[in-house]
Amino acid sequence: MDAAEALFPRKPGSVDRLAALAREDMAKVDVIIRARMQSPVSVIPSLADHIIEAGGKRLRPLLAVVAWRVAGARGDGGLKLAAAVEFIHTATLLHDDVVDSSRLRRGKLAAHLIWGAPSSVLVGDFLFARAFELMVETGSLRAMEILSRASRVIAEGEVLQLTRAHDLKLTQDTYLEIISAKTAELFAAAAEAGAVTAGASAAHCAALRAYGLNLGLAFQLADDALDYGGVTETLGKDAGDDFREGKATLPLLLAMARTGPREVEFWERAIGRKEQTELDFRKARDLIIAVGALDATLTLADEYADNAKAALSVFPMSDWRAGLESLADFAVSRRA
Ligand code: IPE
Ligand code: IPE
Ligand code: MG
Ligand code: MG
Repeated sequence: MDAAEALFPRKPGSVDRLAALAREDMAKVDVIIRARMQSPVSVIPSLADHIIEAGGKRLRPLLAVVAWRVAGARGDGGLKLAAAVEFIHTATLLHDDVVDSSRLRRGKLAAHLIWGAPSSVLVGDFLFARAFELMVETGSLRAMEILSRASRVIAEGEVLQLTRAHDLKLTQDTYLEIISAKTAELFAAAAEAGAVTAGASAAHCAALRAYGLNLGLAFQLADDALDYGGVTETLGKDAGDDFREGKATLPLLLAMARTGPREVEFWERAIGRKEQTELDFRKARDLIIAVGALDATLTLADEYADNAKAALSVFPMSDWRAGLESLADFAVSRRA
């Protein structure tokens, strides 16, 4: 076991408990997803099938479905909303892999490397549009408002991150603003929109939104730790992408601060001036682990996971609530 391995897992959690409760609903969500990715323009279903068939954890639609069921909903009304949430997520992944020049997604070659960046971006747009059609069909103007806002905020987060790449002076606050926008907002919106569609009380909608937001922050912090501490085979995407793209994520920001003047020239060359050699990622990873930056990132992730669980205290204990708590632990103990 190497030094990075020893940092995982944190408090072990699992998505299985929640997935078991929502199994029937999620199977129906999958049927909607498959039906709505179709188009007579053949490259659209081919490319969409490539990324959708590869799976993914389906966390965001699961969150939407659970929030909807926790509020006591009957029937199938919230399932289209959950499918819309996964379409929004998938669209952002297609766009993100172009922006990040990523090679792998969900264990497969990234779509832009097969069909080209233009097709990848345009099919991402198609999936966004499909999400909006599905939202209209659910008939909840409030849910539409929540998810439209989230789509806008995600784009703002991605653009903000892009404009701050290679910036060694990025503050922790701006970093948190970026991950809150690009990732946590959709988790928050999925949970809130699910609850709103089911007619939950304002207090319950707010609690589920707070749960989603904190879960999303924990999830992205863990993702940023995994970019240094994870392995490609399990991740299904290349470790080291953030470093190669010059993204100042928390592990890197903390390591830069903690290594002080000793390594200033290294960080300025590799991140600031984008001049990297093959060996630089390994060196950065070793420094990040040695100064405890990976551990500190995961500790902050643990705090957000605890906040997520605390937000659920307005609900009586139930299998659903226990499942959501276990999902929060999973977000920070996961390896994939
Ligand atoms: C990937 O999200 C994008 C991030 C916010 C880090 P997931 O890890 O949930 O991706 P899939 O859907 O399971 O592939
Ligand atoms: C994920 O950003 C957020 C969105 C896709 C909007 P990242 O770039 O950190 O995610 P990965 O590592 O590519 O999955
Ligand atoms: Mg990326
Ligand atoms: Mg990442």
